[in-house]
Amino acid sequence: MAENYFVMPFVKWAGGKRQILDQIMEFVPETFSTYYEPFLGGGAVLFALQPQKAVVNDICAELMLVYEIIREDVEGLLADLRRHKNEKDYFYCIRALDRYPQKYKKLTPVQRASRMLYLNKTCFNGLYRVNKKGQFNVPFGNYKKPNIINEDILKAAGAYFNQAEIKFTCQDFAAVLEEVERDDFVYLDPPYDPVSETAGFTGYDKDGFGRKDQIRLKECCDMLHKKGVRFLLSNAATQFILDLYRDYKIEIIQAKRAISARAEGRGEVNEVLVMNF
Ligand SMILES: C[S@@+](CC[C@H](N)C(=O)[O-])C[C@H]1O[C@@H](n2cnc3c(N)ncnc32)[C@H](O)[C@@H]1O
Repeated sequence: MAENYFVMPFVKWAGGKRQILDQIMEFVPETFSTYYEPFLGGGAVLFALQPQKAVVNDICAELMLVYEIIREDVEGLLADLRRHKNEKDYFYCIRALDRYPQKYKKLTPVQRASRMLYLNKTCFNGLYRVNKKGQFNVPFGNYKKPNIINEDILKAAGAYFNQAEIKFTCQDFAAVLEEVERDDFVYLDPPYDPVSETAGFTGYDKDGFGRKDQIRLKECCDMLHKKGVRFLLSNAATQFILDLYRDYKIEIIQAKRAISARAEGRGEVNEVLVMNF
């Protein structure tokens, strides 16, 4: 069970699991050795569980840097966040930094993490989206009072990261899954298989996440299953996913998606929880 109620997600992230957290938690085993979460995103499940030993990963380097800085220097991060202004011209200046590699290289890790959090809180819809060149391209959100400095929550996360044994990595999920051992538990929350050609948002990373990746992930699940490792996976309840995981236990659940670029993409979407135990 969660030990500190202030430990909770501090980034807005597409595919955030808060809506279906209770259903996910129902299926998490009582005991395991190391907790693995290769598609961390906003980390709703990690924070709900607060395991003592974990390996958490995401392909998004700027996101993983934020987690590391919160562990290493939360006070420095808070100080840098206080500099930011919720103003359109200022937003576009900060956003543009990754267009100039020479300027970007000069930023300290704390400044990069602070930029990431600032953009996340002030951009439209809290999306993290980059173009083919890896440049952040979401417009200004024009929110009245975005919560840029979430001091208590950032400090609580920092305290948890320092008290527990957590390894942060930034690589493809398959590399992370290779090192999992029999008594470990893996929660997998990949970018969802799109319900229709236009509805799905799978663009967190410049390379996207297509059906080839979904198949690669299923092959990793087979490898985990053969090793005797317990895994739990969430995804959209599309025919493709139902067919792909037909040999495993599938629970269908309903969820309200909070972030979608198109209005018709909001609302009830069936999701699946797949497990091998
Ligand atoms: C559905 S989101 C996870 C949401 C998260 N569970 C939450 O509660 O916010 C999927 C994540 O997978 C990451 N991702 C995409 N491709 C990946 C890959 N090949 N390997 C690892 N992570 C990847 C994305 O950056 C994104 O953060």
